[in-house]
Amino acid sequence: MTLIELKNVSKSYHNGQEELKIIRDLNLTVEEGQSVVITGESGCGKSTLLNLIGGLDYPSAGEIYSCGSLVSSLSEAAMTQYRNQELGFIFQFHYLLKDFSALENIAMPALMAGMSRKEAEPLAMDLLKKVGLQDRAIHYPGQLSGGERQRVVLARALMNQPKLILADEPTGNLDEGNSRVVEDILFQLTSELGKTLIVVTHDSHLAQRGERHFHLTGGGVQDL
Ligand SMILES: Nc1ncnc2c1ncn2[C@@H]1O[C@H](COP(=O)(O)OP(=O)(O)O)[C@@H](O)[C@H]1O
Ligand SMILES: [Mg+2]
Repeated sequence: MTLIELKNVSKSYHNGQEELKIIRDLNLTVEEGQSVVITGESGCGKSTLLNLIGGLDYPSAGEIYSCGSLVSSLSEAAMTQYRNQELGFIFQFHYLLKDFSALENIAMPALMAGMSRKEAEPLAMDLLKKVGLQDRAIHYPGQLSGGERQRVVLARALMNQPKLILADEPTGNLDEGNSRVVEDILFQLTSELGKTLIVVTHDSHLAQRGERHFHLTGGGVQDL
């Protein structure tokens, strides 16, 4: 089943008089449960593309279907609902709340959605185990290594049981060893849980990890 479909999507930014075309007439489909890696040089529009799919921004032209919605024409309120219910985000920088423990950070998306602590915490603990950090529950982000923080971020992204995980340079801030650990957990766990995964990165090493690999260049994608 197709989960995501981009049809003739374009995105431009305006800088005074000048129009900067970042994404041009891009077409892409992603099947449910697939893992996809999109590589490209810095500045080619990878984050822009991911933000369009993730409903953080609107395209200038074209249509984006995701998880059963025409995301490109949702109202702001519907877009927020789409992001909270269907998506888990992982960014290069962790954005964990520093005054909350690893367990509390993971539980947060469910608490925000109205779940009780009593209900949320066992689920968060289960995810903490799945990312191999069961003995870090009461640690604060400042007491974790960079790689551990990204594993907490992955667990948090999974908390509301989204269909789709979007990752923007998830290992961009990590050294080689930690990158491989985070990468392994990201691809293995999302596959085990049947999630659809889209990773954008300038790191060509990650290209082999996905079931599909696209290269973003000149505003469009090449299927590799
Ligand atoms: N809000 C914005 N306004 C104007 N230009 C932007 C904006 N966001 C990104 N850009 C430009 O779009 C291009 C692509 O950016 P980005 O998607 O962040 O690239 P990547 O993630 O591949 O490094 C860059 O040239 C960047 O300067
Ligand atoms: Mg980027």
